[in-house]
Amino acid sequence: MAMVHVDGKSYQMNPEENLLHGCLSAGLNLPYFCWHPALGSVGACRQCAVKQFKDEHDTQGKIVMACMTPSTEGTHIAIQDPEAVAFRAAIIEGLMLNHPHDCPVCDEGGECHLQDMTVMTGHAYRRYEFDKRTFRNQNLGPLVNHEMNRCIQCYRCVRYYRDYAGGHDLNAFASRDTVFFGRHMDGVLENEFSGNLVEICPTGVFTDKTLKRHYTRKWDQQFAPSICVHCGLGCNTDVGEHTGTVRRIVNRYNHDVNGYFLCDRGRFGYEFTNSEHRIREPLLKGKVVSAETARQRLREAVASGKTIGIGSPRASLESNFALRTLVGPDNFYSGMADSEARLVALTVDILRRGAVRTPSLHEVEECDAVLVLGEDVTNIAPRMALALRQSVRQQPIELAKKLNIPLWMDHGVRDAIQERKGPLYLATPYATRLEEIATATWHAAPDDIARLGIAVAHALDPQAPSPANGDFPLATEIARALKSARKPLIISGPSCQSEAIIQAAANVAMSVGAMLSLTAPECNTVGAVLMGAKPLSAAFQAIQNGEADTLIILENDLYRRAPRTDVDALFNSTAHVIVLDHLGNPTSEKAELVLPSGTFAESDGTFISSEGRAQRFFQVFVPPGDIQESWRWLGQGAWESLDTVLAAMVTAVPHLAPVREAAPSAKFRIAGAKVPRFPHRASGRTAVLANINVSEPKVPDDPDSPLAFSMEGTPDHPPGSLIPFVWSPGWNSIQATNTYQKEIGGPLRGGDPGIRMFEPTASRGQTYFGDIPKASQPHEGEWLLLPMHHLFGSEELSLAAPGIAELAAAPHVAVNDGHLREGEQVEVRCGSGTFRLPVRIRRDLPRGVACLPAGVAPFAGSELPAWGKIVRIT
Ligand code: SF4
Ligand code: SF4
Ligand code: FES
Repeated sequence: MAMVHVDGKSYQMNPEENLLHGCLSAGLNLPYFCWHPALGSVGACRQCAVKQFKDEHDTQGKIVMACMTPSTEGTHIAIQDPEAVAFRAAIIEGLMLNHPHDCPVCDEGGECHLQDMTVMTGHAYRRYEFDKRTFRNQNLGPLVNHEMNRCIQCYRCVRYYRDYAGGHDLNAFASRDTVFFGRHMDGVLENEFSGNLVEICPTGVFTDKTLKRHYTRKWDQQFAPSICVHCGLGCNTDVGEHTGTVRRIVNRYNHDVNGYFLCDRGRFGYEFTNSEHRIREPLLKGKVVSAETARQRLREAVASGKTIGIGSPRASLESNFALRTLVGPDNFYSGMADSEARLVALTVDILRRGAVRTPSLHEVEECDAVLVLGEDVTNIAPRMALALRQSVRQQPIELAKKLNIPLWMDHGVRDAIQERKGPLYLATPYATRLEEIATATWHAAPDDIARLGIAVAHALDPQAPSPANGDFPLATEIARALKSARKPLIISGPSCQSEAIIQAAANVAMSVGAMLSLTAPECNTVGAVLMGAKPLSAAFQAIQNGEADTLIILENDLYRRAPRTDVDALFNSTAHVIVLDHLGNPTSEKAELVLPSGTFAESDGTFISSEGRAQRFFQVFVPPGDIQESWRWLGQGAWESLDTVLAAMVTAVPHLAPVREAAPSAKFRIAGAKVPRFPHRASGRTAVLANINVSEPKVPDDPDSPLAFSMEGTPDHPPGSLIPFVWSPGWNSIQATNTYQKEIGGPLRGGDPGIRMFEPTASRGQTYFGDIPKASQPHEGEWLLLPMHHLFGSEELSLAAPGIAELAAAPHVAVNDGHLREGEQVEVRCGSGTFRLPVRIRRDLPRGVACLPAGVAPFAGSELPAWGKIVRIT
């Protein structure tokens, strides 16, 4: 560490960082705009000016930009020097010349970095008397709003969007002294991470358009820490609610997982919680009944003794455990299609064997050579694609290091490395968004992708099996790149439904000592597998055999898990169907009894991510009516709190014991107080509900967490897993995150949330998988039908969010065929049914391979891959 003297006091600062980073890490207030911990410094806004002195005797000094000056040993600076203060005041006055005074109608008002910095700088009165520059705003689609007049030209948006996230359709356009930040024309922002502009932009230019539909100021929202439910990565979120409606999702910093950024599905998918299709009351044969009547019916059903339960990979561990306990472990069945459950069990087994390590997302960013086998990372585990865009910079960055360019000096580093990219190899059935940064790509059928992986492993270690009769020149190149890397990484997963691909990925990882990241489709897929259950097909069989006549289905639409005819047959053979869910769906329509379960915003529970990280999510608000956690419905009063169900779970399933440590128990207090869900500036509760009742309602109790449904308590730096919102004196925007970190951009002071369930064990030897699939052969007159994943449309819950639904993939079949025409109607015939679809020509697909959008009706439950026919409709 370097000793740096600021305004006569001494501070230890990281010598590899700049002075702005050091001052903020030391808890000093210094205004800034263009710098961001994830983007580095460009020195564009001139707002972070300080006076630097040669030594303690220098009284003259010179103005420098703190973000552009290294924190070297013995540096003397002054933030409070009058010239530096005046310089910063002049800068913000200049930035504010054209900024409209529209804070009262600006969505950013009250949580605006520009407001905070203006106050911090002391600029209070406008002297400028002339017309302000104005712009025409653009319609950027249903997710992000654009209000260009508020721009202060800090360039953060384009630096994030283009340089960090790899977007192409947002830029700075200039004419004379007018600079415009937007698209070349109106249109939906194309980048999968466009929603982060809302937090990156320090003003109200880019704001959350979904929040606009039900706008509430930050200080009037009630927040709770949560976990994204829209893929298996487990990004951390804070959820804002007001008067029973979820208003928005913001990023919750977790250094190990999502850092500062979310994907657009995760940020904007939340509106399903407010859907008109919500199940809000218990329904018995389609009629609303009381909670007591519903509970009585549930008790009778279970007492009949012929009840089985089907769990869910999108329900919490606790809810899965509650169903398992209610029906008995022997009658508890997986909520995943058999093939998917088998593949995820294989991935869990590989990670538990301990020969390879699964990386956190932060570690993915640090990997310097990557091989992807089979996964469309952008559309399956989106945040990981953003991490990979950083990992390809790792090898070129070495060049900047050799040139002694500090890594925080963003333009210096970019000038040094130009367009150079580190090794990223993609072997997938179809072209993916990451191809533009890939070293080489290969499109092939799943078996051939597996064979490439096996060839790479063999090239790395001759002891590993070899794909006989294979010609894989690319394998030698990939092996060389992985071998010469400091931190090689292999990514794979179940999306091609191929055991061989996952085994090949494990072989490569073991052969070179690489980390292995295996994706999981849903928020608790890994947890559901660790819970243990019989295969879903066995549940169908048990009903057909008459072994059970009552079926309890937990937060699951079975029509997404199995072909429609099979599920119809199941329901036709089941005397009593009981469904717990939060959204009406084709499965709940078949139920005799429907119980309204809470969404992630109305529940407490635990998910285990694909990294194997157990993370707790907390209830944001108490929903009206009878909505409650599925584990409460199923527990029938056995557990009065989350802690009691957790205790029962780890007793019954001992290997889940670490899960209890994912967050503090409900007894946890800071100085005897709970952590408040409301910011302390929240408007009076009586005022908010004055149209209903002017007396102050009692604050609901929360037996499940150390969070209070009020502003009472202490918001000061709770453990990382309990941060409901970020705020510090003078820091009202999301930039207040900086004040929660040990060092800017580093781990949280209260510890990064989550407990890792799998760690490598040195004692475990490596055993290669030996099965080698045959090379893929075309079938005369048939196509190999594969799922194609889409950020919007393939995931069940986000599809019920209006903004996401507007952008969702429509049903189609993608083919590479010279005889078919774009848009023409064809019939796709396969084992799961016959579908009439328009054709989309994809020249990137291998010959003989066709793709159907994964998770999209009408083929959401189809068994893919499958061979099928594509027949022209004449
Ligand atoms: S739009 Fe926002 S982020 Fe972009 S330059 Fe303007 S103020 Fe900065
Ligand atoms: S990457 Fe996955 S977990 Fe993260 S925000 Fe997106 S959908 Fe949610
Ligand atoms: S933050 Fe230092 S110049 Fe912009």
